[in-house]
Amino acid sequence: MSANYKITGPDGQSLADLPLVEGTLGPKAVDVRGLYGNSGMFTYDPSFNSTCSCESKITYIDGGEGLLMYRGYPVDQLAKHSSFIEVCYLLLYGELPTAAQLEEFDTAIRYHTMINESLKSFFGGFRYDAHPMAMMAGVVASLSAFYHDTTNINDPEHRNIFARRMIAKIPTIAAAAYKRSVGQPFMYPQNRLDYCSNLLHMLFAVPAEDYEVDPIAAKALDVLFILHADHEQNASTSTVRLAGSTGCNPYAAIAAGITALWGPAHGGANEAVLRMLDQIGDISQADKFIAKAKDKSDPFRLMGFGHRVYKNFDPRATIIREYCHQVLEHLGMENDPKFELALKLEQVALEDDYFKEKKLYPNVDFYSGIIYKALGIPVSMMTPMFAIARTVGWAAHWQEMTADPGNRIGRPRQVYTGSEQRDYVAVEKR
Ligand code: CMC
Repeated sequence: MSANYKITGPDGQSLADLPLVEGTLGPKAVDVRGLYGNSGMFTYDPSFNSTCSCESKITYIDGGEGLLMYRGYPVDQLAKHSSFIEVCYLLLYGELPTAAQLEEFDTAIRYHTMINESLKSFFGGFRYDAHPMAMMAGVVASLSAFYHDTTNINDPEHRNIFARRMIAKIPTIAAAAYKRSVGQPFMYPQNRLDYCSNLLHMLFAVPAEDYEVDPIAAKALDVLFILHADHEQNASTSTVRLAGSTGCNPYAAIAAGITALWGPAHGGANEAVLRMLDQIGDISQADKFIAKAKDKSDPFRLMGFGHRVYKNFDPRATIIREYCHQVLEHLGMENDPKFELALKLEQVALEDDYFKEKKLYPNVDFYSGIIYKALGIPVSMMTPMFAIARTVGWAAHWQEMTADPGNRIGRPRQVYTGSEQRDYVAVEKR
């Protein structure tokens, strides 16, 4: 805490004398918790433009500089030198693991990948054309019914087992949702495979044939997962925290996060980018659609552009763009018309005054969908891929919040704009 922030009324009278909260990095925050009690006033910030909902030690973003760090480590260094499993450890436990810690963690994740056999029948209950995100949200919420042994949220060991289980099982659940949607048999996880190779195997292998995982595809997926692993208080993580603040079962809180991620303004954007590229068709139409995106009377937006926090390049997009080239080259798809169209849109938008003035740069989802498509991942599975990667972030934030003895239920207030008090009128007199 540092010096106070004073609010004065129109006549110079003191309305509030509020303490400031200072973190390690980033802007100071005015602690308004005492404001209502002292002045009878609320603060108003409907979409959280200027509001911190918590303190956190996990992830830091400087949107102006285009900087993203997990536990202090810049994400570009992690993407270059680390692995998704190591990043999971870092996010959950705060430090990079020793070799022994990494081996123990990696083994634990590999040996928790199976789901209860009866869960398989849940997938069969969905219509054949159900979106995989709908199946994932439902099945993850139902996990609470299977793990009565580890739902004492006040026990650190229970919290730890939950986090490991959740990270290990989410690829199995996502792959089962996919297999259901294409009418293929469910493939069991293979503990000999690393996290991303195992996921590719569960998605694309069939029992009738041998399947060999492409190591370049697995590596590309691993980097994408590192970049998506956490993003501080984004909409889905804040949803997990708010749901979790009630003391609910952690699997239910993660299911809430999955549903929040689904929207096109958030994790659903990678799917929306691919649908948009299909809608635009080819390079010759790029200018027309850029004009539509700028037209306020047209609801069309350039999906994969803009970000609430980044007012500079999204650092994740810079790394993914590079990977996109490598993967497409490896797969002999460097002249892929979708990628060419994406590059053209990027170029036109970056040179356009509208996008420059509003600081709308390509975000992480602009390129991730193209890589996923090149890897053969269908459009409907793109947001589930994001959900798999973000599960560790959700679990880390849930753990941080739940372990905090000062945690209280989250409960925003409102500015009421409805009718004033009035008396009930009997139905025959209305
Ligand atoms: N295309 C055209 N105009 C845009 C776009 C876009 N993609 N994004 C923002 N704008 C305009 C918007 O119309 C507004 O203009 P004005 O000031 O004249 O009203 C201005 O830029 C500010 O936009 P906003 O909607 O107030 O900004 P926001 O912070 O509320 O929304 C956003 C951020 C990401 C939801 C938005 O930029 C958007 O809808 N982008 C497309 C969807 C997308 O790519 N989402 C993925 C985000 S990154 C992955 C993740 O973290 O989940």
